[in-house]
Amino acid sequence: MRVVLLGPPGCGKGTQAYLIEEKYRLLRISTGDALRQAVRSGTPTGLRAEALMKKGRLVPDDLVAELVREALSSAQARRGYVLDGFPRNIGQAQRLEDMTGPQSEIAIEILLDPDELVRRLAGRRVCLPCQAVFNLEVNPPREAGRCDSCDGALEQRNDDRPEVIVERLRVFEQETAPLRDYYRKKKVYRPVSGEGPAALVFSRIAGLLDPLLAEPAGEKRN
Ligand code: AP5
Repeated sequence: MRVVLLGPPGCGKGTQAYLIEEKYRLLRISTGDALRQAVRSGTPTGLRAEALMKKGRLVPDDLVAELVREALSSAQARRGYVLDGFPRNIGQAQRLEDMTGPQSEIAIEILLDPDELVRRLAGRRVCLPCQAVFNLEVNPPREAGRCDSCDGALEQRNDDRPEVIVERLRVFEQETAPLRDYYRKKKVYRPVSGEGPAALVFSRIAGLLDPLLAEPAGEKRN
């Protein structure tokens, strides 16, 4: 089973992808995280991606498709996977189909009011060493500027500056929003409200996934 998480920057895809991974034991594949890791490590992929990411533009399809192809080749992906941030346009969706062939899937879009998107992105802080995500308004760290888990330094993502947020939202409307119709035609598109606390949003998503991903008897976790 493939779960595709759609939605504009800041709607909560990353937050929900972690919760889905934990509950349903799906492989979480985040192209944004993989690209940021490549930038930090200075790989050829990172070098090609960095300037575009800083401007809020999409990086080339071939580059992200390769990251996804690698992730899908892992044994863990066989049980199923959740895609956070991919596909991002129709071309990437078609590449995904080509990579995997027909597969059962659901495309969940997290809907959120633009003002709230901007508020959440402006308040986001990320731990450099362990990548834990905080929010100054709703999920602040216990000690200002330090990660609760590893005590690492918290930073603002360099694409969470106001002028880049505007560009990312524009790119979403232009490039990614057409995926709604793409998945509607496949009859797998399911919008959910992203309003309210993360646990509430997750309960809406779980309402869609539980019937599809019920664990067989004997496989239940404690
Ligand atoms: P990516 O990392 O994918 O960024 P994005 O899609 O813009 O999404 P974000 O990570 O900003 O937000 P999110 O929806 O995950 O929200 P989050 O859960 O963090 O991509 C970054 C860049 O990489 C792109 O611009 C592009 O350049 C490149 N890229 C990536 N994939 C690509 C692709 N496929 N093709 C080409 N280029 C690609 O939450 C946000 C904040 O809100 C956090 O602080 C969180 O704590 C908080 N929060 C979450 N849920 C709630 C809630 N329910 N209530 C209150 N606060 C909440």
